[in-house]
Amino acid sequence: MTSRALFPASFRAISAGLIRGLHTPESKADFEKIAKESVPLVTFEQGERKEHMLHGEPMPITAAMQDAQHAAIPFDGSIMQNLTPTMTRFTLIGKFAIVTGGGRGIGLSMAQALAEVGVGGISILDAHPEIGEAAAQKLRKDTGIDVRFYSVDVRDENGISEAVDNAVSHFGQVDILINSAGIADSNIKAETYNEQSCYNASKSGVIQMTESLATEWARHGIRVNAISPGYMDTALNRVPALEAQKKIWIDRTPQKRLGRVEDLNGLAVYLASDASAYMTGNNCVIDGGYTLW
Ligand SMILES: NC(=O)c1ccc[n+]([C@@H]2O[C@H](COP(=O)([O-])OP(=O)(O)OC[C@H]3O[C@@H](n4cnc5c(N)ncnc54)[C@H](O)[C@@H]3O)[C@@H](O)[C@H]2O)c1
Repeated sequence: MTSRALFPASFRAISAGLIRGLHTPESKADFEKIAKESVPLVTFEQGERKEHMLHGEPMPITAAMQDAQHAAIPFDGSIMQNLTPTMTRFTLIGKFAIVTGGGRGIGLSMAQALAEVGVGGISILDAHPEIGEAAAQKLRKDTGIDVRFYSVDVRDENGISEAVDNAVSHFGQVDILINSAGIADSNIKAETYNEQSCYNASKSGVIQMTESLATEWARHGIRVNAISPGYMDTALNRVPALEAQKKIWIDRTPQKRLGRVEDLNGLAVYLASDASAYMTGNNCVIDGGYTLW
């Protein structure tokens, strides 16, 4: 969010955060065991806690380093006249969005969801040019909407300002900002503490910033909310080194699965749309119950 002056009154900002950092029962010992591919697995059978070790080859959940591919479906504007007022509030006709980190994973999935509810245009900002360009092209082809790609690192303040200025001059306005670019290196460097504490501090910062900006910007008609997903099945986590760890995450999630990227889409659309007109400063946890126990 570079300059509030850039954004019209209906602007909404969403940050994809992560609550897992605030509730991390994994100990250092867990990680040492995982490194040796012996995984401590805790189960609850008829109320009794059982812990045993898993040995052997990790079980791949999905193809390594890739996201599941879903094509976005174009929104048919002719249905608007048949929608009830409640359904109409979930659409984004005449709105324009910026999605950082929209080249793949959660950001791309949310961009697709915005397109499926009628957003007028999307600017994808991503540090990875090949991924971002291909994603923007495909989304444009799949849905017919105006999708632009900006190759920019969110840590580059000038680069971000230029990209946002360009998006505003192209579309005439920006109404929705989804921040889905990673934050691990953005404020407290991982090596300063250890990776998890750095991550936790960053996530707390995102939540605090969400609340502060929501308070300060409410008078401008700008709403700011955060999404804190649990462990998601994205390319970020589809690496062999995490296969064993994923078994623990799944075991500790009451719904007994990782999140699918599309599990966050409904919430993203809700927050970006008038359906959530009275919600601001909220941290929305969507994690299959991971943080319940
Ligand atoms: N996957 C999960 O389990 C999970 C869970 C909760 C929250 N998150 C958070 O959600 C966000 C997206 O996660 P994901 O799984 O889709 O990740 P991902 O790695 O699949 O996608 C992230 C995208 O952001 C881009 N990106 C990374 N750093 C950038 C930067 N500095 N500037 C611009 N673009 C940058 C990447 O090129 C990539 O296209 C991250 O902030 C992540 O921490 C992920």
